[in-house]
Amino acid sequence: MNDLGILKGKLVVLGVSGSIAAYKAVELARHLTQAGAAVQVVMTRSATEFVQPLTFQALTYRPVEIEMFSGIDDRAAGHVSMGVNADCIVIAPATAHVVARLAHGFADDLLATTVLASSAPVIVAPAMETHMWQNAATRANVAALRARGVRVVEPESGELASGMRGQGRLAAIERIEAEVLDAVRARSRRLAGRCIVVTAGPTLEPIDPVRVITNRSSGKMGYAIASAARDAGAEVTLITGPTALDAPYGVRVVPIETVAELRDAVLACLPDADAVVMAAAIADYGAAEMSPAKLKKKDLGDEMTLRLVRTPDVLSAVVGARGSGTLVVGFKAETGDPVAEAERMLKEKGLDLVVANDVSEDVFGSETDEVTFVSVDGTERLERMPKIEVARRLVEKIAERIGQPRS
Ligand SMILES: Cc1cc2nc3c(=O)[nH]c(=O)nc-3n(C[C@H](O)[C@H](O)[C@H](O)COP(=O)(O)O)c2cc1C
Repeated sequence: MNDLGILKGKLVVLGVSGSIAAYKAVELARHLTQAGAAVQVVMTRSATEFVQPLTFQALTYRPVEIEMFSGIDDRAAGHVSMGVNADCIVIAPATAHVVARLAHGFADDLLATTVLASSAPVIVAPAMETHMWQNAATRANVAALRARGVRVVEPESGELASGMRGQGRLAAIERIEAEVLDAVRARSRRLAGRCIVVTAGPTLEPIDPVRVITNRSSGKMGYAIASAARDAGAEVTLITGPTALDAPYGVRVVPIETVAELRDAVLACLPDADAVVMAAAIADYGAAEMSPAKLKKKDLGDEMTLRLVRTPDVLSAVVGARGSGTLVVGFKAETGDPVAEAERMLKEKGLDLVVANDVSEDVFGSETDEVTFVSVDGTERLERMPKIEVARRLVEKIAERIGQPRS
């Protein structure tokens, strides 16, 4: 785990629930405490069947909290004080039961109340038998948490307590620690008071009232960037073509279809934007004329010729209209040499940063990406990683360039 210093003096609430993996949380509590964090352990009653609170208390130098009605402190709002003051809440292991309660906003024990009362980033590291993990109810609960911005550290595959094999083992402690670190870093709100515009997804160029020219963009990258920028404290506008994704919470969403609509939406946001991230997959060509009526086979015969014309050059329009302080980031998805193409694009379009993306392998819709950041300062190649991680790295880069938080 790198950069542990950032945890010094931070309040990390460690929720432990009633899974056989509860003993692994002891190691997590110890590491976080050694890194300088104040670690406040909150156990569910079931968790105490698996590990003695005293173990956590001895390692974190703090009493463990379990009961809602035992009077944590002398104030009336003791049941929410930990959530209000936390810099980060991490629940490891999280049972199927805890995941369900959080997904539905329950406040029936101290851990659930703490989460509900908090605006701190929440990390959930589930551990359970494979069938529980795969159950449609758990899948829906996990998806609901994710949609709300909860970070889910996926369980790993391997041998489970039952002796069966499958996904469900608590993630390695290092992975959970890395997520805590990242959440605390993002919460330092480096983009507070900044306005970030992100475009995402495909565009749709109409041929006739029912047919369109589009592409395979899933929108996942742009949505991940919008979430990461929001986590860093920015006010985010997400201008998006149609996707199957849920809108990230706390982000203003502007739906568009055509390239011209996308251009107009970006230009309308430009005067207030500190950075524009152009992650949408914009069609280069659209039909020269849109037929007002549905084109019919019987009129067209066996062959049909469609005349295509260039769509508006949105990047050039944005670069031309931006103020001097607005950073513009482009994306270059290529099957050949994406870095060379990105370097060319950087110069020709006058961009600040281009994210080069090799799409020769199946990246559309995938959860991971392998990208290179190309800027006048040089190139930085990232290993293959989840899109949300690429997004966080990009947001870090943007924060470095646009400077200190605005008050
Ligand atoms: C031996 C044993 C091990 C268990 N392990 C898990 C587990 O790994 N994951 C899980 O979701 N539930 C597990 N359970 C079931 C939970 O303890 C049970 O659902 C409980 O109500 C969870 O309460 P809590 O979420 O408030 O801690 C286990 C139960 C027993 C008896």
